[in-house]
Amino acid sequence: MNGRLACGPMMSSATLTSIRGLDAHLTDLRSRLDRALEDWLPVIDDDPRAACPGRLARALRYSMLGGGKRLRPLLCLMAAEACGALAEQAMPAACALEMVHTYSLVHDDLPAMDDDDLRRGRPTCHREFDEATAILCGDGLLTLAFEVVALGVRPAAAAAECVAILAAAAGPSGMVAGQMADLQAEGRAADLGEESPLATLEALEAIHRRKTGALLRAPLRMGGVIAGASEEWLDALDRYGQGVGLAFQIVDDLLDVEGDEAKLGKRVGKDHELGKWTYPRFLGVEGSRRRAADLADQARAALAPLGTRGQALGDLALALVERDR
Ligand code: IPE
Ligand code: IPE
Ligand code: MG
Ligand code: MG
Ligand code: MG
Repeated sequence: MNGRLACGPMMSSATLTSIRGLDAHLTDLRSRLDRALEDWLPVIDDDPRAACPGRLARALRYSMLGGGKRLRPLLCLMAAEACGALAEQAMPAACALEMVHTYSLVHDDLPAMDDDDLRRGRPTCHREFDEATAILCGDGLLTLAFEVVALGVRPAAAAAECVAILAAAAGPSGMVAGQMADLQAEGRAADLGEESPLATLEALEAIHRRKTGALLRAPLRMGGVIAGASEEWLDALDRYGQGVGLAFQIVDDLLDVEGDEAKLGKRVGKDHELGKWTYPRFLGVEGSRRRAADLADQARAALAPLGTRGQALGDLALALVERDR
């Protein structure tokens, strides 16, 4: 995968130099992560006696190993490093985060949800295989993620805490809640007599904080917990995660309006087509850009208690709002 982050025109030369250093570090972490992911995934074995059917293993590996920016695991690894641990200590948690995220994409793309045919530059899982396989692939990734945390994160108390953080972020008051609210906002259930919710900026923010923000906020806390960080540092990482999490979905909305399909590896213009609630729809393109930039600034400021240890995460927040993929 080409995982480079865009360096935008708004950045000073000092920032650009520091972001180029960041880029090299991200590339290194990504390749270590990809090796670790590969190790956790079932091997492809078409023998009918194989525990994991070959078709399912193929779908799991197709979805997991076919690109993606790997942002959630990177945030986890970098949070652990910022708090003085080795990235390796947080690797199982990082793998679990990417599995949960990838499952959310596989299901998000299903015909019953956003009905997409392109993901990470390739046919979506249900297009490459079939709907039932894509549903089971998502189910498999979600459950495997928790096995990986339980078996891989040490000490056991940190594993238990990470399970709780990840489950809350992904579950029916986190990502799944946001996905439900996202569909309700589209007016999907109108034929069942359910009224569409009132379209306010506050309601839009609540959707975005859950459908995307929660799973970007969790890695910071998980990385901090694994590193044994103080409450003060955990709180700083958490506030950073909240800012970056919301900013990330605002930029995702913007890229759906003005992004390049080839670079993004997914369709553009889908949000308008489906009647989604998005930041550009509520605030316009310029207003959305400003909101994302303000959130990135707030996220950077939240890292103050970590001092220079927070530098890489701070740079990443800037790169994320300037990204083009
Ligand atoms: C896409 O996430 C879906 C959202 C939650 C906005 P990413 O933009 O992180 O997708 P990948 O992992 O890089 O493919
Ligand atoms: C998806 O948001 C959030 C998820 C939980 C997967 P989108 O529906 O906007 O993500 P894309 O644009 O399809 O990647
Ligand atoms: Mg969606
Ligand atoms: Mg979608
Ligand atoms: Mg989107």
